[in-house]
Amino acid sequence: PDVRLWGGRFADGPAAALEKLSASVHFDWRLAPYDIAGSRAHARVLHAAGLLDADELERMLAGLDRLAADVADGSFTGTVADEDVHTALERGLLERLGPELGGKLRAGRSRNDQVATLFRMYLRDHARIIGGLLADLQEALIGLAEAHPDAAMPGRTHLQHAQPVLFAHHVLAHVQALSRDGERLRQWDERTAVSPYGSGALAGSSLGLDPEAVARELGFERGSSGNSIDGTAARDFVAEFAFVTAMIGVNLSRIAEEVILWNTKEFSFVTLHDAFSTGSSIMPQKKNPDIAELARGKSGRLIGNLTGLLATLKALPLAYNRDLQEDKEPVFDSCDQLEVLLPAFTGMMATLTVHRERMAELAPAGFSLATDIAEWLVRRGVPFRVAHEVAGECVKVCEAEGIELHELTDERFAEISPHLTPEVRSVLDVPGALAARSGRGGTAPAAVAVQLSEMKSELAVQ
Ligand code: ARG
Repeated sequence: PDVRLWGGRFADGPAAALEKLSASVHFDWRLAPYDIAGSRAHARVLHAAGLLDADELERMLAGLDRLAADVADGSFTGTVADEDVHTALERGLLERLGPELGGKLRAGRSRNDQVATLFRMYLRDHARIIGGLLADLQEALIGLAEAHPDAAMPGRTHLQHAQPVLFAHHVLAHVQALSRDGERLRQWDERTAVSPYGSGALAGSSLGLDPEAVARELGFERGSSGNSIDGTAARDFVAEFAFVTAMIGVNLSRIAEEVILWNTKEFSFVTLHDAFSTGSSIMPQKKNPDIAELARGKSGRLIGNLTGLLATLKALPLAYNRDLQEDKEPVFDSCDQLEVLLPAFTGMMATLTVHRERMAELAPAGFSLATDIAEWLVRRGVPFRVAHEVAGECVKVCEAEGIELHELTDERFAEISPHLTPEVRSVLDVPGALAARSGRGGTAPAAVAVQLSEMKSELAVQ
């Protein structure tokens, strides 16, 4: 029998080449449980509208239950001839209920409003899964910060030594970014809690169905679409999801890049756990940061999913166009990639060994305390412009003589500027420089402790 949902006006069946092009069942099959949930809700509104009697509704729901079980255990699957998941499941229902009853469910709905609704449901579920995995990573990073509350490291700008910072401060900066990503997912979810079911092909339905009841049953807290054309044509929810997942990838890639650098012989700031690193097939000594590199690589792929999708949407006229079938694979892929990447990434960060002595040793190198000399002078009434010059002169002298700032003698300091009395030494040590930056958001241990507890309680309330 012809399984197509649209054969009536056609004399011939579709060419094999068309069937092959048109098929989406191999990737939209993952929407099957959502399609069945939509069908249950739709059956109930058909009943409420008097289009299915009580007995028919009961048999319909029982048939859908059987179909759901067969889908779940794999005994029923879609085929290429089915075109898409919606057609396949209609065939499944017809096989179970017969054409008389099975053929009644399609009244008042279209694959256009169906797919727009199911796609939202799928992505909302995965936004929650990804948000949970992201919270696990935040927790691991918070644990890393907590384990090293007073470890100093060289803070960098332009990848050059800038000013010493606390390692915990640096790690928490990444947590802040990830926490905004988590917030983005939750806000996206709130915006996406609108059900297009009942929009029909584009114009709504003449059958007196209740889209609000469907929305309630399917968990759409904000009800049904206020405009059936927008309901079927809008895909900004997909683009926004692709953006948030790409942003997560980009934020991961920034952590990844640092782990890769920190793990080099030259930095030697961290050692990766054996279970979260890989070896080389030829070089026996190698221990590679593959998880971080895959994170860096996959971020490119996540960005590609976003840009590809935006290109598909650009200039697309209202309402539904078949182009929109291209909207699913990119974001399904974004979900799949993050759902395998995040657990591995979290494991890598949770098991990182931090070499705090090495970081502390390098913290004051590269004259990173020059700013402290300038600010010390400012506190003594020297204008910052002069103070900056004087501190710069100290660096110049040190560079010429191959010494560090604290190695300048009292005489040398006095030669450079009469303002540089021996008391300047008080700011030339890292703990002093760190402790001095005690304002909100600063790198002083007390300020970082505040950040830490803020991030912990934020994570706890999610
Ligand atoms: N497989 C289609 C998609 O993913 C479902 C909607 C098809 N609608 C249609 N009129 N052909 O977009």
